[in-house]
Amino acid sequence: MWRIARDSQTLDLNSSYAYVLYARDFAETCRIAIVDGRPAGFVLGYRRPTDESCLFIWQVAVDAEFRGLGLAGRMLDDLLHDDTFGPEVRILHTTITDDNIASQNTFRSLAKRWGDAPMEVTPLFETEHLSLSEPDAEHHDPERLYEIGPPVAEPVAVSHSPETGRRALPARQQPGGEQLHMNIFTELESEVRSYSRSWPVVFNRAVGSTMYEESGKEYLDFFSGAGALNYGHNNPELKKALIDYLSDDGVMHSLDMFTSARRDFLETFDEVILKPRELDYKLVFPGPGGANAVEAALKLARKVTGRESVINFTNAFHGMTLGALSVTGNSLKRGGAGVPLVHATPMPFDDYFDGDYPDFFYFERLLEDSGSGLNTPAAVIVETVQGEGGINAARAEWLRQLSALCKKHEVLLIIDDVQMGCGRTGDFFSFEEAGIVPDIVCLSKSISGYGIPMALTLIKPELDIWQPGEHNGTFRGISPAFVTGAEAIRRYWSDNTLRDSTIRKGARVEGWFNTIAARYPQHELFAKGRGLARGLQFPTGELADAVCQAAFERGLLMETSGPEGEVMKILPALTITDAELDRGLRIIDESVRAVLGEPDLEAAARADQSDEHDTAENKEHTHA
Ligand SMILES: Cc1ncc(COP(=O)(O)O)c(C=O)c1O
Repeated sequence: MWRIARDSQTLDLNSSYAYVLYARDFAETCRIAIVDGRPAGFVLGYRRPTDESCLFIWQVAVDAEFRGLGLAGRMLDDLLHDDTFGPEVRILHTTITDDNIASQNTFRSLAKRWGDAPMEVTPLFETEHLSLSEPDAEHHDPERLYEIGPPVAEPVAVSHSPETGRRALPARQQPGGEQLHMNIFTELESEVRSYSRSWPVVFNRAVGSTMYEESGKEYLDFFSGAGALNYGHNNPELKKALIDYLSDDGVMHSLDMFTSARRDFLETFDEVILKPRELDYKLVFPGPGGANAVEAALKLARKVTGRESVINFTNAFHGMTLGALSVTGNSLKRGGAGVPLVHATPMPFDDYFDGDYPDFFYFERLLEDSGSGLNTPAAVIVETVQGEGGINAARAEWLRQLSALCKKHEVLLIIDDVQMGCGRTGDFFSFEEAGIVPDIVCLSKSISGYGIPMALTLIKPELDIWQPGEHNGTFRGISPAFVTGAEAIRRYWSDNTLRDSTIRKGARVEGWFNTIAARYPQHELFAKGRGLARGLQFPTGELADAVCQAAFERGLLMETSGPEGEVMKILPALTITDAELDRGLRIIDESVRAVLGEPDLEAAARADQSDEHDTAENKEHTHA
C-alpha cells in the first residue's frame, strides 16, 4: 500500500500509514486487489457511525501498472455486493474534486451497475475551507460530496471474489446453482478473438469519440469500429430516430418485404446521394456485413460476364468469407480458408514497385497478350485506399487508368468502399475524387451510421439480371439500420459541411504525422492516407504495435494494419471535435516518444538538409 501511495504521485505519502491503519481497523469495508500475487490497488471505506447503511469511501488507488483493467470498479463492486457483514449498504458516500474526471466516471459507472442508483453531487468543502490565508500558500481544490443510492433496480450481478484482482464479471450460474468464478471472455470465447487482446478491458458505455470501460476510465476512440462509426458512438440525432422507431413498434425484421423504413432509406439514398452525383445504380441488400456486399458483387460480375476469374490487388482486404478471401492478399487470413482459394489473380497495387515500373505495366501486357495465360477476367475489385492493407492510398490518376483499362477490355470495375466509403476520405464515395464511375460498388460499415449491421451493393441497372431470390438471405436490410442510415444521410450529406471538415481534419493529421516522421529520420517513418483514414508506417510491426500499446495506456484506441502490422492506423469519427483530435494526436506524439525515445533534433535537421540536397541533385539529373 505504501508503494502504491508513493507511485501514485497524487496521494500523500506521509498519510500512507493511515491507509494501513484503515485497512486493519475497517478491514470489512476495505479491499486490496492482488494481481499476480502483488498488491495492485486498494479501496478504503468505513460505515458512517451515524448511519450504518451508509458506506463512506475515503480512498481509491490503483497502481499505475494496473490501470485500465477496471480494478477500481471491481473492488467497489465487490464491497457493495458483500453481504457477509453488518446491515445492507444502501447509500454510498465519497468526495471527489472537480478535476478528477476518472474518479467521477468510476462512481458514475458504479451507480449504473448498482441498480441504476441515483447520484447526487453537493458541495462539501470549498477552497476557503481547504487553504491557508498566506497569498502563495498551496490550496486544495473544493471537494464535492457524491451521494449514490439507494439502488432502484436489481444490481448487475458480480462474482464475489476474495482476491478482488480477479475479474469480477457477471458470474455464470451452474445448473446446481453454484457460481463459477471465471473470466467469461477468455474461457468461453474462441481463441479467434483479436481486438480484445490489444485492449483487455471491459467497455460498457460509448458517446461520440469516447469509450468508457466499466471502471469509468475513458478512452478516446481513433478506431471507430474499424470504420463502422463514422458519425461517432451513439450519435444523439441518430439515436433519437432509432428510439422513436422502436417506441412506435416499427417493424424490426422483414427480410425484403416492403416497409416504410426501407422506403424512407431508398428515397433518401436516391435523393441525397445518387441524384446529386448523377449516379445511376440499383441497390442490392446482400446481407449484413461487408463480406456479403463483396460476395454479391463477385457473384453478379461472374453471372453477367459468364467469366470466372477476378483481378484483385496486392495487400487487398475484402472480407473473410471464401469468395471475399479469394480476392484478399493477407496470407494469414487466406490460410484460414482450408480450401484452395481460386479464380482470382493478384496484380500490383499503386506504387507496389515504388514507382520503378509504369502503372499497369504488367496487367496491361497480360491482358493484351493472347499467350499470357490470363483469362479475360469478369471483374477487377479494388479499394481506393487499402485500409487493412496498410492505408495505401491509390492516386486518382492510377484509378482513372484502371477504370479506362477495364472499359477497354470490357471488364467490370468493382470498388470496395466498405471501409473508405460513407465519407471516410471526404466525399461520400471514395472514388468521387478520381471522377470515375464503377460498375459495382460495395458499401457497409458506416452505411447504417450507428454501428448496426448493414451492407449495400450498388449495381449499374443493366447488370441487374438476377432472378428473384437468386441471391438471398435472412438479414438483408435490418429496419433499425434503415432508420439510422436514412437519418445519417439527411443529417450529414445534404451539404458539404462534413466533407469539408473531414478533408481539413485529415490534412491536420497528415501535418502531425509528417512532423513526427521528420523527427526520427533513422527510423524512416512514413505518413500515409487520405481524408480521415491515416497511417504512420514504422519499420516493423513490433514498433507500430508498441506505439499502439503505449497509446492505449494513455487512453487512446487505435490499431495497426499492413501485412506485418507495421502501420499505426487511425480512423477517428468524422464528427470528432478539433480539441479531441488534437488530444489524440498529442497522445500519439507522446507514445511515439515513449517507444522510440526523445528525438535527436540535430540529427533530424541534418537529415532534412541532406534530403534537400538529394532533391536538388535529382533535379539536376532530370534536367540532364
Ligand atoms: C475494404 C473492406 N471490404 C470488406 C470488408 C469486410 O467487411 P465485414 O468485416 O463487415 O465482412 C472489410 C472489413 O474490414 C473491408 O475493410
